[in-house]
Amino acid sequence: MYISHLSLTDFRSYAQADFELGPGTTVFVGSNGVGKTNIAEAIGYLASLSSHRVSTDAPLIRFGAERALVRARVARGGQATAVELEITAGKANRARINRANPVRARDILGIVRTVLFAPEDLALVKGDPANRRRFLDDLMVALRPHHAATRGDYERVLKQRNALLKSARSGRYTAAHESTLEVWDQHLAQAGARLLRGRLDVLELLSAHLGTEYAGLTDGSKAATARYRCTVVEELDDDGGTAALPATALPPSAIPSASQDRDRQDPAGGTREAGAVRAPGLEGAGIGDLERMFLEALAAHRKKETERGITLVGPHRDELDLFLGPAPAKGYASHGETWSLALALRLASYRVLGEDDPREGAGPILILDDVFAELDADRRSRLAAVVAGAEQVIVTAAVAADVPSELGGRVLRVTPGHVSP
Ligand SMILES: Nc1ncnc2c1ncn2[C@@H]1O[C@H](COP(=O)(O)OP(=O)(O)OP(=O)(O)O)[C@@H](O)[C@H]1O
Ligand SMILES: [Mg+2]
Repeated sequence: MYISHLSLTDFRSYAQADFELGPGTTVFVGSNGVGKTNIAEAIGYLASLSSHRVSTDAPLIRFGAERALVRARVARGGQATAVELEITAGKANRARINRANPVRARDILGIVRTVLFAPEDLALVKGDPANRRRFLDDLMVALRPHHAATRGDYERVLKQRNALLKSARSGRYTAAHESTLEVWDQHLAQAGARLLRGRLDVLELLSAHLGTEYAGLTDGSKAATARYRCTVVEELDDDGGTAALPATALPPSAIPSASQDRDRQDPAGGTREAGAVRAPGLEGAGIGDLERMFLEALAAHRKKETERGITLVGPHRDELDLFLGPAPAKGYASHGETWSLALALRLASYRVLGEDDPREGAGPILILDDVFAELDADRRSRLAAVVAGAEQVIVTAAVAADVPSELGGRVLRVTPGHVSP
């Protein structure tokens, strides 16, 4: 798909900006601070209803304005859709599709699909687990917009259960607390099982691509793999976290047999991409299984949770461990490896979304914010080759010469508040 026209009103540094875009590559060039990332952010926001830079909406609205408007014409296959999103700080955002009556913002999810890669994504590798959970959940929602509710339900139940645990801790833990807690356990396990199942689906889809994308960006000497560490099935340490246990310390069910391991080796001795992302202890678990496991885990941690006044098990405490070769990426990977791995995660999601709707002209929009300046010549051209197949690529760069010439495309100049050909 591609955006053929974008209009920003009171969005970030733009009072009003209107410009045409085409399929293929568009490079936004301008000095630091002129508003290039603001454009990338606006397009990303249309797709995900969240910013890759801030967690609240207020900074998205131009200083002194009350609301921001992002409008886009989207071409998907032969079909054109007009989407309009009104962002009001502290209030529910509203949207319109094809100039019809306003709808909930959530209703536009799925119209625009983007994969955005930005320097902030280094946190996918180096940052705390919340970054990686969000990565999985965002992809889950991009694939199946109804999962926005799955995530919302879980967060709401969790908040209420935590409030109860906290009050039980500050007061005395009574029989009344216990029976109310049991009700919340049911709700949490139900919502949590759906969220976990959604994440597991995403992990399975990513598994086919993570290794290949990382190998494509590098010389292929290290295999990129990932392991989902689920608090519902793993031992918690004294701090309520799961230890990054070596595979041999996992429960027997989680250890792949030697023959499975052999299956993973391709004849060249490398790691085949299938199986690059594992979720020990959860393979093949259906929603009913997950719910039961969740309830068992809550029962097992009842004492600890009431002492600490917080929910210690559940998808909100899970981690996605990333590895390059045998070593964890976090704490071990070099700066360049960290970049490549973060980029490989985004490119893998780009592949997943592309496979989800393989129709001609339906692929996601790829947004690369300030990426090329950070890569060496070899990685630049590898990335250019990957990107060449995308329906629409939005690139931002402070220096036009950093963008590989083989990408071609149109250049738009950005000056404060303005975009011009
Ligand atoms: N809500 C807002 N209202 C007005 N101006 C804003 C708002 N939010 C950000 N800005 C301005 O937008 C500019 C930053 O824009 P942006 O991050 O897009 O720059 P950039 O072109 O990507 O720069 P760089 O090359 O350094 O990444 C800053 O000057 C900032 O003051
Ligand atoms: Mg920028």
